[in-house]
Amino acid sequence: MTFAKDDLVTEIIERVDIVEVISEHVVLGKRGKDYWGRCPFHAENTPSFSVSAEKKLFYCFGCQAGGNVITFLKLKENLSFGEAVNRLAERAGIERRSQEHPARQRQRSERERFFKLNELAARFFAQNLINDPDAEKARRYLEQRGVNETSIKGFNLGYAPRSWDKTLNYLVRQGYMPPELERYGLVSSRSGGGGYYDRFRGRLMFPIKNYSDQVVGFGARSLDGEDPKYLNSPESKFFEKGSHLYGLGAARRSIGTADQVVVVEGYLDALSAHQFGVTNVVATMGTALTNAQLQLLLRYAAEVVLAFDNDEAGRNAAVRSASLIRGSGGRVKIASLAGCKDPDEYLQKNGGEAFQRVLAGASDYLIFRLQTLLARGEHQSSSGKLQVIDEFWNDYQSSESELERQSAIQYLSQALQVPELTIRKEFQQRQRRRKIDAKLDNNTNIVHTKNGKLVAWELAERQLLRMMLRDKKVYRQVLDEYGIEVFISPGMRAILEAYAEVISDGDDGKAVDPAWLAETIEDDVVRQTYLKLHMEGETIPLEKEAQRQKALADFLRTLVAEKHRSRIEQIDHELIEAIRAGEQEKSRELMSEKKALEAERKSWGRGEKRL
Ligand code: UTP
Ligand code: MN
Repeated sequence: MTFAKDDLVTEIIERVDIVEVISEHVVLGKRGKDYWGRCPFHAENTPSFSVSAEKKLFYCFGCQAGGNVITFLKLKENLSFGEAVNRLAERAGIERRSQEHPARQRQRSERERFFKLNELAARFFAQNLINDPDAEKARRYLEQRGVNETSIKGFNLGYAPRSWDKTLNYLVRQGYMPPELERYGLVSSRSGGGGYYDRFRGRLMFPIKNYSDQVVGFGARSLDGEDPKYLNSPESKFFEKGSHLYGLGAARRSIGTADQVVVVEGYLDALSAHQFGVTNVVATMGTALTNAQLQLLLRYAAEVVLAFDNDEAGRNAAVRSASLIRGSGGRVKIASLAGCKDPDEYLQKNGGEAFQRVLAGASDYLIFRLQTLLARGEHQSSSGKLQVIDEFWNDYQSSESELERQSAIQYLSQALQVPELTIRKEFQQRQRRRKIDAKLDNNTNIVHTKNGKLVAWELAERQLLRMMLRDKKVYRQVLDEYGIEVFISPGMRAILEAYAEVISDGDDGKAVDPAWLAETIEDDVVRQTYLKLHMEGETIPLEKEAQRQKALADFLRTLVAEKHRSRIEQIDHELIEAIRAGEQEKSRELMSEKKALEAERKSWGRGEKRL
């Protein structure tokens, strides 16, 4: 350890108030000279956790955790020693400049200007909400939405004047130059170099803060139905919307205490929850949870409850977020807001206690998936039941918890009116089939790529997708004639779905910028698959139309053949089962399906069918 670092550590311990830092995470009460509370590092009902302001140490008599303010932050927020030191140094405003590289110093002072600017702007907007006569509309709106004074103050709400230059002039008077204001999204420049104007006009302002409670940007709601409903600060070097969670500052303490965080979509959802006394709530600001947001949350709590909007988009975002959380080793539950479109509406209608009950009754992930599948209401017939089992299978087998799987089977058994044993058998059968598939794939058609081994159909799938992403005509041609079902891997389908969301209908032929597409894919796994796909590059020359058409037809043939192959194999298994069970009708059906598939497969193999 260097001398300088020792100094810094000593200075932090001296200057940072350990009681203040710890009381952000633990409810402390003073008894004698020391402070006492319930230990955040182990579960207990009577306080055995003590903090001494004088000694600048904490100690738990229950679990023996102890140390100084740096140790505390390190343990509580899962930081490295260095990170904890930096956080506390920043908090105490301790200078580290002498030790820094000049480039980093410049970056840091730019950062500080950025925070200062946003703070000033937030205060300006807040003042306007109180003083500007024109803000009457915003105040009436808040009243009508049931937002009270405490929430307005606590969340620092504001009003951006309905003017082209009031914000601009104010910030210039505070010492900021227009180009800088533009860079951080507070003003825009007129095209053709005709000066600058306010970006936010006549809108209700929601300041967005980072985890250290510094304002980093704004969400601005229109009050007159003007589009977009929310205009957000643009992304910049210092502001990425997907790295922040709205309301985290206000929620942090309760999240730690409850060891649980509730994630909602909207600004007003989070704000309402706090107003109604449910304070461990943060908002993603309209998207599925990103990995950056998740990592931030997992520092405070191991369990996430998703309370997204009660619509298709909300359910999709919940599925995506839940997979991400499970993949990172966190626990997740999904709440359902029966009869209401979002948490805000639920809270306004039913109050905080009812909302708490909804959260307490949130479903495990597998059950949520089942509920979504069953909600289609197509599970009355036996083919409908099999369909549910088929679609559920992937999630089922991906679960590592026997307990979770068991309750899913119980749930499914009741919902489908099928004995648990039968459902287990169905799953076991699929498990066996998968093992056989894996073996077959290992023996056939292995193609080597620089990323390891891919079987022929996987390669075809990737090449095909690449061609589609490069050329919208190909994209439409394939989708029109084959549909997305021609793709076998869920990852490839997910990329196509993401692509479908971002392309416009008009400008045919123009390719979408890959970097940009990557940005728009929210699911981390899908984004990584996409980037990998993109980085692998092209392996076949596709300059000539004829070459392209041939390649396209080859890929499609490979894929369809693979589908046929795996369906035929599945039929073989089902046949054995059916024959054993003496189900003659079913065996006959399976045989004829198999025959038809084999015939089709042959004609495809000869290349009789072409695009
Ligand atoms: P919603 O459309 O559900 O809005 O978007 P809301 O939060 O329920 O707002 P109210 O109740 O209608 O006023 C959810 C979130 O998505 C982001 C915002 O963060 C919003 O809170 N969003 C939505 C945008 O960023 N831009 C938009 O145009 C719309
Ligand atoms: Mn909403």
